[in-house]
Amino acid sequence: MANLLVTGGAGFIGANFVHYWAAHHPDDTVTVLDVLTYAGNPANLDGLNGVDLIKGDICDTSLVETLLKDRKIDTVVHFAAESHVDRSITGPDAFVTTNIIGTHSLLKAARKIWLDSGTGMPHRFHHVSTDEVYGSLSPTDPAFSETKQYEPNSPYSASKAASDHLVRAYHHTYGLDVTTSNCSNNYGPYQFPEKLIPLFLLNCLYGRDLPIYGDGMNVRDWLHVEDHCHGIEKVLQVGKTGETYNIGGGQELPNLRVIEEICATVDRAFAENPALAERFPDAPAANGKSSVSLKTFVTDRAGHDRRYAIDETKARGELGYAPRRTFAEGFAQTLAWYLANEGWWRPLLAKG
Ligand SMILES: NC(=O)c1ccc[n+]([C@@H]2O[C@H](COP(=O)([O-])OP(=O)(O)OC[C@H]3O[C@@H](n4cnc5c(N)ncnc54)[C@H](O)[C@@H]3O)[C@@H](O)[C@H]2O)c1
Repeated sequence: MANLLVTGGAGFIGANFVHYWAAHHPDDTVTVLDVLTYAGNPANLDGLNGVDLIKGDICDTSLVETLLKDRKIDTVVHFAAESHVDRSITGPDAFVTTNIIGTHSLLKAARKIWLDSGTGMPHRFHHVSTDEVYGSLSPTDPAFSETKQYEPNSPYSASKAASDHLVRAYHHTYGLDVTTSNCSNNYGPYQFPEKLIPLFLLNCLYGRDLPIYGDGMNVRDWLHVEDHCHGIEKVLQVGKTGETYNIGGGQELPNLRVIEEICATVDRAFAENPALAERFPDAPAANGKSSVSLKTFVTDRAGHDRRYAIDETKARGELGYAPRRTFAEGFAQTLAWYLANEGWWRPLLAKG
């Protein structure tokens, strides 16, 4: 039995991880530490018994020390972050504070309680990071492997890169038992509707423009959040201390292709279920048109990385990890979840 502290567990991936962990490891205890920014939502944890949500800041080192000690935490899974690249361009300070100083605060607390108190307690600090730390690829460059040099280009990716280095340093300098995973673009249930997939999905339902940056040919790898949670589980179970693992979805797609898949899946859902036209009368699909009519090209994001691609040979070989869905399957499941959970996302539309 393990006692987990999940930081950022009221956010998108963190909440999916808590649901996943509670379902697959019912004997473990889970404490969530989340300051509840605009992206954190206690409702993401509805329906879970025995999961404790503590509202607090990862920068509060003494709070983290108390939680680690009093709750006999042996595993930290660290998701808490400022995570939206566009917000990091307009307001980078919060990214430096949470992603760098916050991660350092957690590491300091973990070092104090797990190493300096002399308990010899087996422990693991798992840090969740992003493929964006590796920089941008040309169409012919090989995919990112774990040995690729870091070349972060946005304030977001630079802050995540700094946190990755701190985690590595606490292993090499102090002997903290750490692992890091760098994953690609996640999508799935509970994603705040500022990110591409839920934003475009809801815009299709409401007949709003689908704003496409630049020429729409920026390439990303797409990872269903449940496959990501499965990957983190594998790292926790068999990953080696001090190692980093790339976790991807094996679905490298240009944005235009992703948007076409979203539109086609929404159109199909309306064709199969006439009740949707009554719920969402402004949707093109409710009026005999295709959702692709909403596509609108807008000025590109500043410093927009052209291509990310994940080489996950190491995770597949060492951990036995493999994603279980194609993007088409994962998006169809995601659309079904959003259609069935309007009560979850409707209040968020005013919040963004
Ligand atoms: N979403 C993706 O596609 C993606 C891809 C690669 C890596 N990641 C990484 O995965 C992690 C989770 O991403 P997400 O998309 O779920 O993010 P999110 O923005 O949905 O959630 C972040 C959570 O962290 C909480 N938080 C923020 N600052 C905090 C603080 N100071 N103290 C405590 N809690 C705080 C927020 O309230 C929120 O609940 C992040 O570290 C992110 O960098 C995300």
